[in-house]
Amino acid sequence: MKKWISMLLTLGMIVGLTSCGRTGSSKDGDPNTVEVGVAIYKFDDNFMTLYREELQRYFEEDLSQDGVRYHVTLVDGKGDQAEQTNQIDNFIANQVDVLICNLVQASSASTVVEKCRAANIPVVFINREPAQEDLELWPGRTAYVGADARQSGTFQGEIIADTPNQGDWNGNGTVDYVMIMGDPENVDAQYRTEYSVKALEDAGLTPRKLFEQRGDWDQAKGQELAQNALTQFGDQVDVIFCNNDAMALGAAQAISAADRTVGRDIYLVGVDALEECQKMVQAGTMTGTVLNDHVSQAHTAAEVAIRAVNGEDLEPYYWVDYVKVVQP
Ligand code: BGC
Repeated sequence: MKKWISMLLTLGMIVGLTSCGRTGSSKDGDPNTVEVGVAIYKFDDNFMTLYREELQRYFEEDLSQDGVRYHVTLVDGKGDQAEQTNQIDNFIANQVDVLICNLVQASSASTVVEKCRAANIPVVFINREPAQEDLELWPGRTAYVGADARQSGTFQGEIIADTPNQGDWNGNGTVDYVMIMGDPENVDAQYRTEYSVKALEDAGLTPRKLFEQRGDWDQAKGQELAQNALTQFGDQVDVIFCNNDAMALGAAQAISAADRTVGRDIYLVGVDALEECQKMVQAGTMTGTVLNDHVSQAHTAAEVAIRAVNGEDLEPYYWVDYVKVVQP
């Protein structure tokens, strides 16, 4: 008898454990709950923090209603693709209804799509754009929601071309710039770098690269690189382009430490329009930034994910516009 009781208890524990350990699913659990698995490349990223918080809030507060509840499980890939792949395997094992994925490495998209296809779980990529052929591996059930990074780069260049001295403080006829890049594996970093310079050329200006290094989207690295560039090139530096605002915040610290002043002897531009940077633009301590609209991107990602759950065919791409942010 005792043996039976202990066996029953063990069984109960196992059942209990599995039901709290799994993410739950409408496939065999509560028919009104849709389980959304969200894999974020790294929680410790200013922009992706705003994005993931809005994504969860929108699903759980705005979209959940009496008939249907969305339950979001967010996991932190910690910048490690192997870790993220494990997390995705867990989501699949737990039979989430849809996966929203901010890849650590865009090149892993094909593996993720294949795994999801085998498990019949639709996948919506966000923020890190995968190659088109990877989206085509499972048409209609795979999509990318994002913003076209070429546009943000172009806006950065145009902001500089529109300044009174067209980005040339020392009047030597060239726009001598420092480029602080994000993770170069990410198309956002590649395109912002390329298109900001292209926009200067398209405006008839002559850009001259003094310095270009990767700061991996990180504020502390942005500060260190800007400091190195200012030490090495001093007054030659007309403009510091940063692929994102976190790094621009770091560069702003280095600019003050080097006794330079934005709007008086140097220009500084970023991308994202973090609240702090919008205030700096208003105050003139940053020349401009570009709104990377995390609210619209989060809403679109959620709506596309729901369409997929409802069995609708997805388009491969859903785009959200960037917006220039400068002093009025
Ligand atoms: C944002 C960066 C962010 C990166 C993460 C970019 O679109 O501008 O701030 O670090 O995405 O992948």
